[in-house]
Amino acid sequence: MRDTVSIDEISSFCKRKGFVYPSGEVYGSLAGFWDYGHLGVELKNNIKQHWWKQFVHMRDDVVGIDGAIITHPKVWVGSGHADHFEDILVECNSCHIRLRADHLIEDTLHIPADSLSAKKIDEILSKHKVKCPSCQKGTFQPAMRFNLMFSTQVGPVTHQSSKAFLRPETAQLIFTDLRLVQDNARQKLPFGIAQAGKVFRNEISPRDFLFRSREFEIMEIEYFLHPKHFKKCPFFSSIKDRAISVLSAEAQQKNKKQKITKIGELVRQGSLKSEWHAYWLIQMYDWFLSLGVSEKHLRLREHLPDERAHYSSACFDIDYAFPFGWKEIHGCADRTTFDVEQHQILSKKDLRIFDEETKEKVIPYVIEPSQGFERAFLAFIFEAYNYDKKRGYVVLHLHPSLAPYKAGIFPLVQNNDKLVLYAREVYVRLKDRFVCFWDQGGSVGRRYARADEQGVPFCITVDFDSLKDKSVTIRDRDSTKQIRIPVSELVEVLENLLAQKISFKEGGKLIN
Ligand code: GAP
Repeated sequence: MRDTVSIDEISSFCKRKGFVYPSGEVYGSLAGFWDYGHLGVELKNNIKQHWWKQFVHMRDDVVGIDGAIITHPKVWVGSGHADHFEDILVECNSCHIRLRADHLIEDTLHIPADSLSAKKIDEILSKHKVKCPSCQKGTFQPAMRFNLMFSTQVGPVTHQSSKAFLRPETAQLIFTDLRLVQDNARQKLPFGIAQAGKVFRNEISPRDFLFRSREFEIMEIEYFLHPKHFKKCPFFSSIKDRAISVLSAEAQQKNKKQKITKIGELVRQGSLKSEWHAYWLIQMYDWFLSLGVSEKHLRLREHLPDERAHYSSACFDIDYAFPFGWKEIHGCADRTTFDVEQHQILSKKDLRIFDEETKEKVIPYVIEPSQGFERAFLAFIFEAYNYDKKRGYVVLHLHPSLAPYKAGIFPLVQNNDKLVLYAREVYVRLKDRFVCFWDQGGSVGRRYARADEQGVPFCITVDFDSLKDKSVTIRDRDSTKQIRIPVSELVEVLENLLAQKISFKEGGKLIN
């Protein structure tokens, strides 16, 4: 089912069920901006918390920060974003719509155009006599560069000197705060600083639902290494033989497909310049696998040399097989010493950090795993979405750690005070430990269907026997099987089921 479901179907499902709404829809909505509904906000928090727990809390070598969205404008000069954070756009001579040039070429001519110069774009559009897809009439004015940063004014006076920018990535304040964080958190090289939060990019043509938004969230780590000893990673032996589907730069240049490659081979060939880069790619790749994304829907893609961002000497994406093609959901870049060096030059401050081992002050070398939240959200939803023909509705097979509600609690009937009262007692007991919901409307079958569509892994029904034997029925979303367990064991069993420490059958007495 996943392969045939379209992005429009997912978008309308997300709206219908309360995951995501177009922002400001009552006024016609604003392209590229989205609001998260009552289920969306829970799923969002679960994804972010899972990422943060795994890559910050569970590690000794990574700490977090939460920097400002609007910061000193020189940060974006130092980082290079003021000059280089651009896409190329073309404007129609007739209707004056502005389009992202590489998307126009890819959509109309079906040739990759990610890294083309403005000159090359003009040549291609004129050679193929490409017409404006909006008015079907016009040709295009010469291609021009467009900076993607949103600007704003700080303070009451509108003047060039009060102009500031909304951050387009979370990385930069990690670099400018580096010395403070290292000193205060007493971290020794190698170590990482993580940040998760909102970023803003004035995308020329936002599209594909959340995939290309103008306001979105990034969860990323800047991992700092000694600049002379950045190649060797002590964990490399445990990952070097991992065989993964990889689309190399060479394969893209020769129009070939991805092939299974050992990650160690990419380091040996020099596509990855550091074993640490391989290590972080695998950590992020495995994060998707651990949350239920099928390996056949993932691949690594090497950036072409002229596609890489201005700060990067090597970059690999994790791509997901969306029904609209393989697309980047994660970017892992080798940022060298570029950023800290640039901030040191511009600020004229000593931004070097002290390395305990070599007893020298150094500008650290950086590997950056960067995870776009919205694209992770989409991959998890696509992976989970399944129209179940037998049940006659969509079942959302979300991983239990991600599911917005962990359990639904239903009294078998709603017109029996004793039964409803006991069911409420069970509900209150569970609510203290899990995010769960109460539903007493309609038949139990209808309530199961509603819960399945929302991705609720387990539903608990309190029936007339429960009043006598103090037991309840738990129903499993994925198999529809049911077990009977004493209420006294409910919290523990549910905890183990959600953590996947026991199978459903091990949870209690199977009754169907
Ligand atoms: N600090 C590095 C950085 O920002 P990036 O590749 O520009 O790198 C990181 O962005 C991730 O953010 C991407 O892998 C993608 O998941 C996500 N992303 C980028 N642009 C996006 C957009 N317009 N809408 C939603 N997610 C986006």
